[in-house]
Amino acid sequence: MTYDLNDKVVLITGAAGGIGAATARQLYALGANLVLTDMQQSAVDKLAQEFSPSRVLPVALDVTDAAATKAIIQTTIQRFGRLDVAFANAGISWRSGASTIASCDEAEFEKIVEVDLFGVWRTIRAALPEIIRNQGQVLVTSSAYAFLNGLANAPYAASKAAVEMLTRSLRAELAHTGATATVVYPGWTATAIAKVAFGGNATVTKMNEVGLPGWLRRAIPPEQVALALVKGVQDRRPRIYAPWRWVPFSLFRGIFGVLTDVVLSRHKEMHALIQQLEAESQR
Ligand SMILES: NC(=O)c1ccc[n+]([C@@H]2O[C@H](COP(=O)([O-])OP(=O)(O)OC[C@H]3O[C@@H](n4cnc5c(N)ncnc54)[C@H](O)[C@@H]3O)[C@@H](O)[C@H]2O)c1
Repeated sequence: MTYDLNDKVVLITGAAGGIGAATARQLYALGANLVLTDMQQSAVDKLAQEFSPSRVLPVALDVTDAAATKAIIQTTIQRFGRLDVAFANAGISWRSGASTIASCDEAEFEKIVEVDLFGVWRTIRAALPEIIRNQGQVLVTSSAYAFLNGLANAPYAASKAAVEMLTRSLRAELAHTGATATVVYPGWTATAIAKVAFGGNATVTKMNEVGLPGWLRRAIPPEQVALALVKGVQDRRPRIYAPWRWVPFSLFRGIFGVLTDVVLSRHKEMHALIQQLEAESQR
């Protein structure tokens, strides 16, 4: 049975970003009421201008703030009377360029995990009572990095693998309640976070080119992720991939992972690029 989004209340973190905003637009078109949250109030206010004020609540929220995340759920209930879907989507990667585990700034590594893993955990935990009460859904933006080697992007990839398991565990734990949880796996998507690998940083762009064939590297528009996401929510699917080309890599990740690790251990050009990246991050 299709989950009807009409009149449902959906909270989105990182709503002002590429995937968040594209998803907000498609959910709105299907009749959902939206709680749009992101770091800057001005950014969510700007997005909210696209919608009828009666169906949208724009609020600043930093998902590293546990108390503020809980407070937003209360604000949502005060405004709309309920919360049906929580979309834990906020995410960051390196501020600029990229680093290795050996050469990165320690505080930056921990900040990425703080947002990409603990931010998701806080959003889920705060929203769960309402999601269970309304037999709703939790959506979590993981990434193809949940099953790809995370070289030069380790805190991000580690967090994306962790939130995948968090969400799978949650889905199993919720099965008896009528509520559910879904992992979203975007591949490369043309948004701010991915710019570094598409010309934003020459070394990272080269690593992307050397490490992946062209057809896997091609970035899709955020609207394509949003479309897959909305369909997946309507079907209450356990996993949502966009684009589909990543599905075999996820399904056969055991074999693919072993082969990738062997290739990467022998790949002289990639070794040179890693050394170059380390030299750059020490400048
Ligand atoms: N673009 C890609 O290639 C790609 C691929 C796989 C997964 N993802 C994931 O998709 C999600 C959305 O990213 P996007 O591609 O739209 O990038 P984006 O950079 O456009 O959006 C990310 C949003 O998260 C917000 N954010 C950052 N830190 C936050 C915090 N502490 N609290 C609240 N909000 C915060 C940012 O302000 C931004 O609006 C992220 O989780 C990202 O990791 C992106």
